[in-house]
Amino acid sequence: MSASRTHLTVVQGDLTEQAVDAVVNAANSSLLGGGGVDGAIHRRGGPEILAGCRVLRNGHYGRGLPTGQAVATTAGRLPARWVIHTVGPVHSAGTDRGDLLASCYRESLRVAGELGARTVAFPAISTGAYGWPLADGARTAFTTVRAALAEAPDAFDEIRFVVFDDRAREVYEAALTENGG
Ligand code: APR
Repeated sequence: MSASRTHLTVVQGDLTEQAVDAVVNAANSSLLGGGGVDGAIHRRGGPEILAGCRVLRNGHYGRGLPTGQAVATTAGRLPARWVIHTVGPVHSAGTDRGDLLASCYRESLRVAGELGARTVAFPAISTGAYGWPLADGARTAFTTVRAALAEAPDAFDEIRFVVFDDRAREVYEAALTENGG
């Protein structure tokens, strides 16, 4: 298997400040905004993003975006070209929803590839309001992204994992190393 030529990086900072082709939003199925990353993206990106989401809701996604799926809109005033909205699973102690979280990463990369994005920035999907344990969320992120890159090593130049605080950075850096970072 050829080594992936895509750089995986961990960055501590604000997702809305990342100058990349595509920023991935930890959205909810309504696509009409919320708190956390979702709130920050709409606040900083401006009304064009919500307008784009409304077009999706009035069209193919009339019932909302299902968990694990991804769809793109303009990035509005963000230093990016697109926002890829994906809906993470809510963590449940009794039900293993890991495949849905993996799907968020896989589907976001599929959409990014279709757009021709070469740099992509992910938040730690589901690890905030949706209660997903940070370490497991990081492990899922890296294993899923690496599996996708194994099939297309040149698909991207950089995939950036943007975390908000020191603890998250430590957890993500450890997970990246564990996954052949
Ligand atoms: N930049 C980078 N990371 C951020 C930012 C930001 N501006 N804001 C929050 N985070 C981090 C959180 O600390 C957490 O680790 O992103 C991770 C995801 O947290 P949430 O934004 O709460 O997303 P999630 O857990 O997937 O919950 C999604 O929350 O905001 C609502 O509308 C959203 O209903 C949806 C739900």
